[in-house]
Amino acid sequence: MKTLRETNFPGVERGKVRDLYAGRDNTIVMVTTDRISAFDVVLNQQVPYKGQGLNASSAYSFQNTIDIVPNAFIAMPHQNVIVMERCEPYPVEVVIRGTLSGSSWRTYQKGQREFFDTVLPDGLRQNQDLIEVLGKPLHTPTSKAKTGHDVNLSPGEAEDMVGGRDVWYAMRDAGTKLFLRANKLTAANGYREADTKYEFGLGQKGMTLFDEANTHDSSRFFRADTYREKFESGVDLDWVDKEFVRKYLMSIGFKGDGPIPDLPPEIVQGASERVLESAYAIIGKNFVPVEPDMEQIREVVYEWTGA
Ligand SMILES: Nc1ncnc2c1ncn2[C@@H]1O[C@H](COP(=O)(O)OP(=O)(O)OP(=O)(O)O)[C@@H](O)[C@H]1O
Ligand SMILES: [Mg+2]
Repeated sequence: MKTLRETNFPGVERGKVRDLYAGRDNTIVMVTTDRISAFDVVLNQQVPYKGQGLNASSAYSFQNTIDIVPNAFIAMPHQNVIVMERCEPYPVEVVIRGTLSGSSWRTYQKGQREFFDTVLPDGLRQNQDLIEVLGKPLHTPTSKAKTGHDVNLSPGEAEDMVGGRDVWYAMRDAGTKLFLRANKLTAANGYREADTKYEFGLGQKGMTLFDEANTHDSSRFFRADTYREKFESGVDLDWVDKEFVRKYLMSIGFKGDGPIPDLPPEIVQGASERVLESAYAIIGKNFVPVEPDMEQIREVVYEWTGA
């Protein structure tokens, strides 16, 4: 199976996962590659169909949430390529949680009860349904760090960083609605979105959702049918997330420092299956991947950048 490691057309700027090109008329042409990052480093192997899975999930999410908030999506001229309006990013990532899982559970377990603007009650358990407990999802926004790890914010910090309380509230409310919509979409397909991250920027229509939405990189999904039973018996959920790759890396002692280890083929394969399953969770259909052909990608990038 061919994978897309990188593109090298003139003017490329590289994120961890995407190659970015300045498009015509204030647009960004994003090539979503098959690169995978963990612990903030890009790994040596590429995951088949990851770029296309991410793009399919994002495009579907953008197209199915226009009634909630404007987004930057313009076109997907190739399954690896998305064209977006260029936005001026707010430096805050809107992290939203529907279950007490991952880092929020670890923090809770250590005794912390205050999460951003919410104090959680005692007695909650791992993977507890927070929407049931609070009547709404939990927000734990972070600063969008250019380098290093994202940092949790206090309400005052979040408001200051985006330029005022009203802006933060608009972002928080849009994020909440997007997350509830994502959970409605996934529920219809037998999944739930446990947590996610949305990014907003200032665009022509005001506050605009950009980057990606409800993808395998930004969100974690689990199978809904086994949730109740697994939660009640204290067994971990049937996750569809990147923890699979992280667990492997931790099992060989890698946590982001030192030489980057290779991923064995079965881990790459497992990661690819999870990307496809995540896309299914949100879209409700198996998307049909295409071979990432460099010539075709070059053509659409040139077409949309005007090169
Ligand atoms: N419509 C847009 N307007 C402006 N910037 C955008 C837009 N869409 C995506 N971006 C930016 O492009 C980059 C996408 O690249 P990628 O996903 O590889 O980055 P990353 O590794 O997640 O983050 P970073 O680039 O910060 O390391 C992100 O920095 C994202 O904020
Ligand atoms: Mg990104």
